[in-house]
Amino acid sequence: MPAISASAPGKIILFGEHAVVYSQPAIAAPVLQVRAKAILTADPRGKPGSVSLQAPGIGLEAELQTLPQRHPLRAAVEATLRRLDVTHVPACNIRITSTIPVAAGLGSGAAVSVALARGISAFLGKPLPDEIVSAIAYEVEEIHHGTPSGIDNTVITCGMPVFFVRGEPIEQLRVPEPFTYVIGDSGVRSPTAIAVGDVRQRWEADRLGYERIFGAIGEIARSARAAIEQGKPQELGGLMAANHAYLQQIGVSSAQLDGLVVAALNAGAQGAKLCGGGLGGNMIALAPAGGGAKIAQALQDAGATRTIITEVKQRST
Ligand code: MEV
Repeated sequence: MPAISASAPGKIILFGEHAVVYSQPAIAAPVLQVRAKAILTADPRGKPGSVSLQAPGIGLEAELQTLPQRHPLRAAVEATLRRLDVTHVPACNIRITSTIPVAAGLGSGAAVSVALARGISAFLGKPLPDEIVSAIAYEVEEIHHGTPSGIDNTVITCGMPVFFVRGEPIEQLRVPEPFTYVIGDSGVRSPTAIAVGDVRQRWEADRLGYERIFGAIGEIARSARAAIEQGKPQELGGLMAANHAYLQQIGVSSAQLDGLVVAALNAGAQGAKLCGGGLGGNMIALAPAGGGAKIAQALQDAGATRTIITEVKQRST
């Protein structure tokens, strides 16, 4: 049997992170320059049912059954087998690689789950539809951080820019005028669970105040959708500034992220904000036509450990 390979992209949240957990709308897009990949090969000499996993990026080499039940890789494999109603797997080897930085707000966890669900279901000759693949990744996200909104698994599975409201059908964004972001990595790793947990504590202490902020972020996401769909991405800059200010207010920015935002604006970005859970990880800057390289250089000069220039366009798969 030939090896089966499946992959999934990273993602950025353009508007609405955190507020989306509290049912406000958010906008996200795939980042195709980075990907998680799962390669499955049959092991004709292995014991029936034995699944060996290799994830060199995190130094993992283990039999599936020896991993803790809540380990995200084991959880993704088992959730996929459950959905397929498969109890006996032919002995196989699964190699997982990823160019998406971990705990950096680019959706690495969800992308690995999606690649695994796609790879395993294809390997067993029963490819799963996107809706189920996304639901599997969501199940695993719940282990990563108890209250995921579902935006990461959704945008990573469907591979196109989306307007997302928790629990509602996915809405693909119309993007008549593509636009460019520069992603800058602060180099600080911060699991989403920590930022989401901190925000929840503060929300519990001041529900009224936090609901007001989340509502305002939701309005920003709605205005951003209108600007994007009307082909006026240049109008996103001010909305990004307002969104970043609210993220600072709820305590998920950091000195490094704020420094990168200022550096991007000084280099001509039309807008900039942190992206994802925050407290570390990545920020994004909206680049004017032809301005991406200059902003990327400025971000590196200001300490970004990695930059990616990516385009948001109608259909990115
Ligand atoms: C993480 O990519 C985005 C957050 O809003 C968490 C979530 O939506 O589950 C911070």
